[in-house]
Amino acid sequence: MGVVLRQTRDESVKRAVNIRKIASALPDLLALDTMSVLRGRRSIRRFAPQPVPDHLLSELLQAAICAPSAHNRQPWRFAIVRGADAKLRLAVAMGERLRIDRRRDGDAANVIEADVARSISRISGAPVVIAVCMTMADMDRYADARRANAERQMAVQSTAMAMQNLLLAAHATGLGACMMCAPLFCPDAVRASLDLPDDWEPQALITIGWPSAAGKASWRLPPSAVLRMID
Ligand SMILES: Cc1cc2nc3c(=O)[nH]c(=O)nc-3n(C[C@H](O)[C@H](O)[C@H](O)COP(=O)(O)O)c2cc1C
Repeated sequence: MGVVLRQTRDESVKRAVNIRKIASALPDLLALDTMSVLRGRRSIRRFAPQPVPDHLLSELLQAAICAPSAHNRQPWRFAIVRGADAKLRLAVAMGERLRIDRRRDGDAANVIEADVARSISRISGAPVVIAVCMTMADMDRYADARRANAERQMAVQSTAMAMQNLLLAAHATGLGACMMCAPLFCPDAVRASLDLPDDWEPQALITIGWPSAAGKASWRLPPSAVLRMID
């Protein structure tokens, strides 16, 4: 009995030492994990049909709203579109705008229709579509265009940071996501088809789902090409 007790104490001391070792290494492990998420994220454009569970979706939103924002005004807004009818309505409204623009460009009808069909199928075929918007409602107001413009850019930058958090969180949870910038070209169509408030300015769609295949490798300019060191 006594021996067993001594062994148990020894074991628990060993376990405590191991836990302390693991705990002291945790910051490094977490940092490694963060870097692998940053490096491993790719745009995922094709999804398996399985639905995205609510709790994961809310984790993505939590990650998005952790982003920094100018004056901490949090100008991001999110419309989560999951219903098949709503996705199709959005996709068709955006497709119509695309068709009009491309006709004005003088593109061939068959090329336009192929692009419109591809756009509709990407949007309506994604399990979840988030229309990410920004609002200037809580941002500072300036009478002069120079500062008003700078303030506006701050709202755009803040919203982009929320989108990046969302993309990274999706990757970290095993989901795939892709940002689509088309709403910038047809904000009225997005706002009207989703019945969004007037001050919500559509910035992008983020399509989300379980990846049906790994993302394609994508290239980057080397740091030396985008860097100027000023010592
Ligand atoms: C502002 C912005 C707009 C984008 N718009 C689109 C888009 O409309 N359609 C699309 O398929 N991908 C879009 N992307 C994804 C980029 O094509 C992608 O990030 C890039 O090719 C690098 O690939 P990666 O994300 O896999 O690293 C967009 C990305 C950003 C940041």
